Amino acid sequence: MRARIPLVVVALGLGAGLLVLGVAAGWSPAVIAIAALIGLTVGALLGQTFAWVRITTGRLARLEHYVNHRLEGLKNDTSRRDGAMGKNITEIRGKVGKIDDELTHPRSTYRLALRELAQNQSAERRETRVHYQQKLDDQVALLESFMQLQRLVPMSLPMPRAGTWAASEDLLLWLAGYVLEHRPRLVVDLGSGQSSVWMAGAMRVAGYDGQVVGVDHEEQYARATEELGRRQGVSEWLTVIHAPLVEESIAGRAVTWYDEFALRSLDAVDLLCVDGPPAQGARQARWPALPFFHDRMSAGGRVILDDMIRVDEQQIAQDWLERYPGTETLSLDFEKGALILTLR
Ligand SMILES: C[S@@+](CC[C@H](N)C(=O)[O-])C[C@H]1O[C@@H](n2cnc3c(N)ncnc32)[C@H](O)[C@@H]1O
Repeated sequence: MRARIPLVVVALGLGAGLLVLGVAAGWSPAVIAIAALIGLTVGALLGQTFAWVRITTGRLARLEHYVNHRLEGLKNDTSRRDGAMGKNITEIRGKVGKIDDELTHPRSTYRLALRELAQNQSAERRETRVHYQQKLDDQVALLESFMQLQRLVPMSLPMPRAGTWAASEDLLLWLAGYVLEHRPRLVVDLGSGQSSVWMAGAMRVAGYDGQVVGVDHEEQYARATEELGRRQGVSEWLTVIHAPLVEESIAGRAVTWYDEFALRSLDAVDLLCVDGPPAQGARQARWPALPFFHDRMSAGGRVILDDMIRVDEQQIAQDWLERYPGTETLSLDFEKGALILTLR
C-alpha cells in the first residue's frame, strides 16, 4: 500500500495543478476537465514509474548484498581447501623426495642392506670353504695314519672300519706306535674293539711277552673282539674280559662302572686306554677310570683319554688333574681329541 502513495500524490498533484491552471487561464470547462484528466493520467504513470524504480532499486540492493555474502563464503571455503591441499601436497612431496633419496643416494638403506647381504654371503662362502678344506685335510691325515698303521702292524685279514664307534685311525696309530716303542707289559683297553686287536698285533710285531686286556660291558662285543683277535692270529697277546656295568661307589662317588670283581686281577697297568663305557646317555661315564685304576698303575704308567672334543671328557680330565696333582698331560690334536696323562 505504501508503494502506491507516490503514485496517488503525483497523479492528484498534476490533475489539480492543470485544473487550477485552466480556471486561472479562463479555459472552457470541457478543456479544463480534459486537462485535469490528462494530468491525473500522466501523474499516475509517473507515480507508478517512480514506485517501480524504488522497488527495483531495493531489490537490486538486497540481491547485491546476498551475492556479495555468498561470494565471501565461497572465497573463505576455497582458501580453506587450498590450505589443506597445499599441506597434503607438501607432505606427498616430502615422501616422494625420501623415496627418491633411498633409491638414488649412496647412503640408501636398500643399497647398504644389499651390500651387507653380499658381504655376509661371501663371508659364509669363505667359512664353508675353510670348513671343507679343514675336513679334507683331516681325512687325508686319517688316511695317512691308516697307511702307516698297516705298514707298521700288518694284518692277515681285513680289519673293520675305524672311526664312528671304534677309535679313529690317528689314535689307533698312536696306540700301536706306543706299544712298538715303549713295549708296555700290561695294556688295559676300556671299551674293547679293534683298538685292542691293533695293540695286540703291535705286540706280535714287537715280539715281546705283553698282554692287552680288552674290557667290555657287553658280552656280545667282548666276544666279537675276541673273535677278531683270533682271526687275525693275535690271541696270544689278547684277553677280553666281559665286565657288566653295576652301581657302585668309587672315591666317594656313586657311579655306574664295570663290575670290580671282573677287573680284580688287573694290576701294574702300564697303559690304560679309556674309550669305554659308552658316554651316550650317562654323564661323565668314564670318570671312574682313573680313580679306580690309579693305584693299579705301574710307576710312570700312562693313561690316554679319548674323545676330548666332548665337554664331558674335558670336565673329567679337569677333575683328575685336581685329584692327582703332578700328573703331566699332553694334548693330541686328533679327530676326536685325546689327552695323555703321565702319572707321577
Ligand atoms: C667307543 S666303543 C670302544 C671302541 C674300541 N675302543 C675301538 O677302538 O674299537 C665303546 C663300547 O661300545 C660298544 N660298541 C662297540 N661297537 C659297537 C657298535 N657297532 N654299536 C654299538 N656299540 C658298540 C662296545 O660295548 C664298546 O665297549
